[in-house]
Amino acid sequence: MKIGIVGLGYVGLVTAAVLADRGHYIVGVDIDENKVNGLNCGRIPIYEPGLEELLTKNRDRLHFTARYEELKDVELAFITVSTPTINGKIFLDYVYSAAKSLQVLPKDSIIVVKSTVVPSTSRRVKEISGREVVANPEFLREGSAILDTVRPDRIIIGSENAEAGNIVEELWKFTGSPILRTSLEEAELIKYTANSFLSLKISFINEIANLCEKLPNCDVKTIANAIGMDKRISPYFLDAGLGWGGSCFPKDTQAFVSFARDLGERLRTVEASIEVNNERPKRAVKMLKELMGSIKDKVICVLGIAFKPNTDDTRESVALKIIMQLSEEGAKVIAYDPRAKTDLAEMVSSKEECINRANGVIIVTEWKEFYGIEELLKGKYVVDGRRVLRKELMDKRYFRAIGLST
Ligand code: UGA
Repeated sequence: MKIGIVGLGYVGLVTAAVLADRGHYIVGVDIDENKVNGLNCGRIPIYEPGLEELLTKNRDRLHFTARYEELKDVELAFITVSTPTINGKIFLDYVYSAAKSLQVLPKDSIIVVKSTVVPSTSRRVKEISGREVVANPEFLREGSAILDTVRPDRIIIGSENAEAGNIVEELWKFTGSPILRTSLEEAELIKYTANSFLSLKISFINEIANLCEKLPNCDVKTIANAIGMDKRISPYFLDAGLGWGGSCFPKDTQAFVSFARDLGERLRTVEASIEVNNERPKRAVKMLKELMGSIKDKVICVLGIAFKPNTDDTRESVALKIIMQLSEEGAKVIAYDPRAKTDLAEMVSSKEECINRANGVIIVTEWKEFYGIEELLKGKYVVDGRRVLRKELMDKRYFRAIGLST
């Protein structure tokens, strides 16, 4: 098929790469001309394992442009533009403006809404564009986006017109994943429900971690492991730590809460999940202060800037909030991350240098290279915010960890 993809961020580029690899011809559109020119010269604007290789391998079937007119003969076009949350509410102008621009499509082509959008948005896209619309939310995680696209746990296809739904179903059949056919609104709601539930699991285990820190002989990892063996709970997304960040959970939970309020309903559990999460950075700093006495004029090394490992993305990263608080309290903050950068702290080029120069260390992102560094940390005050260290190798007088008794 000849397929258009509007919005060349994470979701758009990964979708483009995977579908080109399946033999489809892709026209990717983005209003950012620099990005488009870069992509046509093989410059990938984000770091995502395997993405560059897949785009390079299929470059003959990929074309990037800033001109919507080049979509005039596609059979199907995905909308993968961003849907930020502004003042607590979802901002849909990018989606609607894409819908308007997609009036260039042939009359019988289909628009597939992949951006995360609140219920009723896809219906509005149909009205604006005058084309048949299918809601097909994505569940890919940064860092494993390609695998999540080719082997998702399930595929959701929301449609009103069965024929349009069938065409999109055919497109994703190669994944072998279960396909669920739903209404447009259900498809949209499923995405928010999934992300909110996942955020809840994390906030819940983080509250149990708080309890473990106050009790003798308790480790939240033991508790999480035990409850995770109950199939009804499942072991995933029960890693206590400094909370959730990134480009999705923070914006989606907020947008969902405000969407519900507009309907006259409250999502109290999701509100609580956000509240618990907002406290995580403060707790990490408090832990370090309890350990060190004072952090004023001390050098503090932050290990990990990305919101999670295997990405250079720092959007809503807990690390940035921790750095800001440390600086406000008079500490000199230095930071190391294998991929990500920030202007908020002095970035150093290795974890060894970062640790050596510091009085205190906070581990914020669980990059692989931070496992097994117990020896390197000798003589430093350490807060393990992601439980990467072996507690039995640490000197209790200098060490605190999330969810671990003191
Ligand atoms: C998330 C969802 O997992 C995807 O299914 C969804 O498609 C995506 O949002 C989206 O809406 O586009 P992502 O934001 O890439 O994906 O990252 P996750 O792997 O879900 O991690 C989110 C945050 O939760 C990270 O900050 C991570 O450190 C934190 N986390 C995750 C924990 O603190 N504990 C855990 O057990 C798991």
